[in-house]
Amino acid sequence: MTANELRQKYLDFFKTKEHAIIPSSPIVPENDPTALFINSGMHPLVPYLMGEKHPKGTRLANSQKCIRTIDIEEVGDTTHHTFFEMLGNWSLGDYFKKEAIRWSYEFLTSPDWLGLDPNRIAVSVFKGDEDAPFDQEAFDTWLKLGIPEARIAKLGKEENWWGPAGKTGPCGPDSEMFYWVGDPDKVPESFNDDNDLWVEIWNDVFMEYNKKDDGSFEKLSQQNVDTGMGLIRVLASINGLDDNYESELFKPIIEEIEELTNKKYSEEENKRPMRIIADHANACLLYTSD
Ligand code: ALA
Repeated sequence: MTANELRQKYLDFFKTKEHAIIPSSPIVPENDPTALFINSGMHPLVPYLMGEKHPKGTRLANSQKCIRTIDIEEVGDTTHHTFFEMLGNWSLGDYFKKEAIRWSYEFLTSPDWLGLDPNRIAVSVFKGDEDAPFDQEAFDTWLKLGIPEARIAKLGKEENWWGPAGKTGPCGPDSEMFYWVGDPDKVPESFNDDNDLWVEIWNDVFMEYNKKDDGSFEKLSQQNVDTGMGLIRVLASINGLDDNYESELFKPIIEEIEELTNKKYSEEENKRPMRIIADHANACLLYTSD
């Protein structure tokens, strides 16, 4: 599958679920003095997650260009990037957890869409803390869809809470989906998020909280859904690649670096530096071309 085909499939799927398709916003925020770059699909939608009416309605989807520097130290591995395209669907006070999770699972596993092997999927849900309870509804929804309990990790805020995009604003517990990129005949019975062969491919965030200046959380006036699927990670995974830099979006850049440096990407010691150069070149070019 090509990147264009994957993007189109995603948008077509959410059209069948009555979502309006909106364009990617510019990568420099228009109304957020707390951030240098748009770092997620939900970032330009903050006013609407807070309750303002969006002109296109309450169900939206798009492919948003993002620059995320929080993971910059991880760039150099097989899956992290500073610049990436994020596929996302949003409910602005419309559907909530059950529908979001069911649709994610349908898009990933239905033969009409991505047709991924359900046996290679694992998920995580928020385990609860003093700010918000254990996400029983997300947990039960995954169980009903057939994900075995051993493949549903219950994790804390560090892993299973998303947002706000800046210092304050909409946020909430989330449920992440992982795909096993190792040997399909050796999928572990239980899920362990420390194993790099489980690649995070999608995140459904249930945004019903507002983080305030003083660090406390209050309930928003509406329950929202914000999801994010990294285009390149999914593209690599469905094409059987365990290295995003071997996918169609990065291969030409890596080849150019090989030519300029007269070194081979296939040699282990060159991988990390070449990935970092490729990532940063990609981020600069796409940023300036926007
Ligand atoms: N906003 C969520 C993320 O970027 C979906 O992971």
